[in-house]
Amino acid sequence: MATPRPIVPHHVAIVMDGNGRWATKRFLPRIVGHKQGLDSLTRCVKACLERGIGVLTVFAFSSENWNRPSDEVSGLMDLLALSLSKEVPSLNANGVQLHFVGDRQRLSEKVQAGLAQAELSTASNQRLIFNVCFNYGGRWDIAQAAQKLASRGEAITELSLDRAMALAHVPDPDLLIRTGGELRISNFLLWQAAYSELHFSDKLWPEFDEAALDEAIAVFRTRERRFGQTTAQVSGHDNTPNTKAA
Ligand code: IPE
Ligand code: IPE
Ligand code: MG
Repeated sequence: MATPRPIVPHHVAIVMDGNGRWATKRFLPRIVGHKQGLDSLTRCVKACLERGIGVLTVFAFSSENWNRPSDEVSGLMDLLALSLSKEVPSLNANGVQLHFVGDRQRLSEKVQAGLAQAELSTASNQRLIFNVCFNYGGRWDIAQAAQKLASRGEAITELSLDRAMALAHVPDPDLLIRTGGELRISNFLLWQAAYSELHFSDKLWPEFDEAALDEAIAVFRTRERRFGQTTAQVSGHDNTPNTKAA
């Protein structure tokens, strides 16, 4: 018998793209789009809690986003600092365990302290693990994991690398959503998305609401995840033993 499909994916990852276009379409400064994007994220966290999703990982600022105009970069840094003070109490009240994933060295000391404090104060929450990828890049993650192993003199294997990656505290994403209509990964979760189901939405991130999330989940449930096997194997109709030496 095939195992029944879970109602919702356990781990949902999202490339929250389209804030700038949302603002530009309304003749507003791009930073207004980012503020609206933060509201959309708050709504998304609530929706994940209501749907029993176990892990939410979002791409908030990429290693490459430093290349944007300096006023947009500093606006995004300010928004990060603001969101820490504004959102952490309600995340705590809702049982959300917060993690910041990415290279913190380039962030100000004040922001770094704020991130550490937010993580500490939510560390014992169990309802939802919420990873915010900030100054994150998939290539950075693979390189930092390899460096960590090299400095300890450990062998580099798939398992040891996996354990040294920045998302080692959660299983790989089941569903990876990108909003904003672009069909690319943009250096997100290069290692962890090896077998994630991909869903691309044309909605701009500030417009991505509960219905759009439900649609992504509904599409996910129609997918057959084979992990290299055949349809007959995953549906339980093929009982031929696998004699391949491990
Ligand atoms: C995503 O929205 C947020 C960040 C990259 C920080 P964008 O700012 O990339 O929005 P578009 O793609 O320009 O519309
Ligand atoms: C990806 O969006 C990064 C985040 C959503 C944080 P970008 O807007 O930076 O991606 P590209 O530049 O279009 O590939
Ligand atoms: Mg973009």
